Amino acid sequence: MSNPKQFDCGIASIGLKFPSLGLSVDELARVRGIDPDKFTIGLGCETIALCARGETVVDLGVDAARRALERWDGDLSDIGMIAVGTETAQDMSRPLSAFIAEQLGLDGAVRSYEVKHACYGGTLALRQGLEWKQSGAAGDKAALVIAADVALYGEQDGGEPTQGAGAVAFIIDKPLLASVDVRSFAWSKPAFDFWRPVGESYPRVEGKFSLDCYNDATQFCFEQLAETRGGIDAVIAEYEAFCFHVPFPKMVRKGVNRLGEAYAWSKEESSDFFDTYVDPTMDWNRMVGNCYTASLWIAVTNQLAAHKEGSRIAAFSYGSGYGAELLSLTVEAGAKHPAWLADVESDFAARKMISGEDYLELRSEGKPKLVTAPEPAVANL
Ligand code: HMG
Repeated sequence: MSNPKQFDCGIASIGLKFPSLGLSVDELARVRGIDPDKFTIGLGCETIALCARGETVVDLGVDAARRALERWDGDLSDIGMIAVGTETAQDMSRPLSAFIAEQLGLDGAVRSYEVKHACYGGTLALRQGLEWKQSGAAGDKAALVIAADVALYGEQDGGEPTQGAGAVAFIIDKPLLASVDVRSFAWSKPAFDFWRPVGESYPRVEGKFSLDCYNDATQFCFEQLAETRGGIDAVIAEYEAFCFHVPFPKMVRKGVNRLGEAYAWSKEESSDFFDTYVDPTMDWNRMVGNCYTASLWIAVTNQLAAHKEGSRIAAFSYGSGYGAELLSLTVEAGAKHPAWLADVESDFAARKMISGEDYLELRSEGKPKLVTAPEPAVANL
């Protein structure tokens, strides 16, 4: 079930970063002339995290990484890989990892790359970090894995109330805070449920279809896990929390409803499962909206801080396109002192809540600016 001795690696350090602005969905509803209950009750959203002018996905990734590095007992010279899961790519060739590594001062004998699979990209980067360590290829080096995104939809798009931004960084080394089971359960099916064509600033979405894809992936991943445990009841008995990718909280409720249908749960059983094991995992997600690759890992880091050593946490990752994976983590002793709580507390305390009018002004500046490259002659000095 969990890891054999030779695979003794996991999450050694965690850092999170959220941007400096926030917008309540009530405010968004007011300036859009929409009943706020649609956003709060219909979608389960509360607050959107937004970048201020000039604040970028690179800043979020760098700050999350610095926080993870500061509270780890190694330093930059111990990092042999940086992998960044994102769908906020700044360039078609240059990986986001290069933008971030540059600011961290990380270079040399380091494997550096970006991972793309919509919201699933952060999970893939994490798995690659773990598998790199587990294979022995890493030697005694550690991996720096970052999931970072600025999620913006076109103005007045149905996805607008679900926007968000944030980054989560992990050092993959000794399993001080959490170990991750070697075995996980993936499911993929090529689909156009949500995609962003090259050169376009905002995603295109087949909204209703995307809900079906998410629900199917939930069911098919959980069925694989349940098969290895002898049934869904054994799964529920094993885990203290079930974290999900959170495009918006009501989507996660729908995913649980699908599990209820698949396992013939009564309405009460479905609600009890959601209220006990799932809803508490989304406390931070409700404060920031959909952070794409970081969304699931915001929920997981919340739960690593909430449960005692030895507790088991399930993590369901979903990315449009679509690919999904259900992972299992175990809380390790170091999580008893969850230093990363300070990141969330300080970022939420420092952020400025803006009015609907401020938001409209921010959007009126047009599409988000990409991090620009210096002139080649300068870049190569
Ligand atoms: P919509 O079509 O504008 O909303 O956008 P709707 O009409 O379907 O209403 C939504 C809910 O609000 C409904 O509840 C309404 O009944 C309710 P439901 O029937 O679903 O239970 N409602 C109200 N409730 C109370 N008071 C009211 C009221 N009015 C309506 N007055 C949609 C909804 C999800 C399509 C839109 O937000 C969207 O396009 N979102 C983006 C796509 C998305 O998040 N999909 C989720 C699965 S795909 C995924 O997770 C991947 C993703 O993260 C990207 C990636 O992987 O990179 C998105």
